[in-house]
Amino acid sequence: MQNQEPLLTTYQMGDILLPNRVVMTSLTRCRATNPDLAPTDLHVEYYAQRASAGFILTEGTWISERAVGFINIPGIYSKTQTEAWKRVTDAVHEKNGKIFVQLVHSGSVSHPDFLQGELPLGPSAINPQEKAFTPLGFKDTLTPAEYTTVQIKETIGEYRLAAENAKKAGFDGLEIHAQIFTLIPQFLSEATNQRTDEYGGSIENRARLLFEILDTVKKVYPAKRIGVKFTPAAFNPGIIKPDITTITMFDYILEKLNGYHLAYVELVGPAVDLTGTPLDLLKDNYFEHFRNIYNGTIMANLGFTQESGNAIISKGTADLVSFGTLYIANPDLVQRFEQNSLLSKGDPDTYYAGEAKGFTDYPFVTS
Ligand SMILES: Cc1cc2nc3c(=O)[nH]c(=O)nc-3n(C[C@H](O)[C@H](O)[C@H](O)COP(=O)(O)O)c2cc1C
Repeated sequence: MQNQEPLLTTYQMGDILLPNRVVMTSLTRCRATNPDLAPTDLHVEYYAQRASAGFILTEGTWISERAVGFINIPGIYSKTQTEAWKRVTDAVHEKNGKIFVQLVHSGSVSHPDFLQGELPLGPSAINPQEKAFTPLGFKDTLTPAEYTTVQIKETIGEYRLAAENAKKAGFDGLEIHAQIFTLIPQFLSEATNQRTDEYGGSIENRARLLFEILDTVKKVYPAKRIGVKFTPAAFNPGIIKPDITTITMFDYILEKLNGYHLAYVELVGPAVDLTGTPLDLLKDNYFEHFRNIYNGTIMANLGFTQESGNAIISKGTADLVSFGTLYIANPDLVQRFEQNSLLSKGDPDTYYAGEAKGFTDYPFVTS
């Protein structure tokens, strides 16, 4: 008899019928160890191994050369990369899986080492005080150059080109990475965005870039094939952290997204106790709070297990649950849930390096 626990039930996400609600979320694995930053045979194997997920989100993938801020991460801005991704999507589709690409831009959390000696761009000339993982190891971020409005439009244009390439590569949809300390959160945060034009100041202005990016990728994929990932509770090491405007900011964003009819919003939960933080109000009802505002599909993320994933769906607080770390070592996560099999533990030493080791060599234990 089929196991009908909530995570293993089907879900109609826009025009896609997902076979289950177990989503493989984005995992940067730094295996694009080639000058083209193109996915390789290993990527084809790795994603195909995980095709039984409700659907797969790729690792964060650069939208342009200017977007790079970390080593050995693939892009989707060149023909070589696009053709290489086509091999990945074909392999996932052959196994009846679905795969969305996650699009990302580093903004100021990059380094001149990636940018032919030029400074990265940020919303304002303010150092985000993060680290960039360069070919020579971790380096402190610098004070970026401030984006001109022309450069903002260029970046939005790069999102469009990346979306067009994603379509050519056969992706079923795309996700906009708008979490932690990447470009979009740099614009959302008052700490890094002190602009006085239409992209800075008020909440509406700081969120403008996000919506302009969504508006442009919507010209390539229908909204029902576009998702966006947020972490309102991103306590980053640097200066981009929740502040007293964060809750109002995300309330505004999610309310406005109601009009977008996206495939889903992926919400990363808090990794820390929110007591005494600017998000104290959400300490007992984080997902519920956003559920009450957002009418569309919510994908909950961070630290979920089979049990807590089933519970949040049963309660009606989320529709889908995404799993990151568990997908590293459990390519057959869905079958393990079905068969209540033991879960394997990944090796953190090979999270961000190691070629096949720790990437494609985790065994399937289910039949
Ligand atoms: C090795 C590793 C790489 C990650 N890379 C990305 C990424 O590229 N994009 C992203 O949005 N989140 C990334 N994350 C965060 C995960 O997608 C996810 O939000 C986080 O791991 C919490 O989910 P989990 O508790 O199920 O692992 C990464 C996490 C890990 C452990």
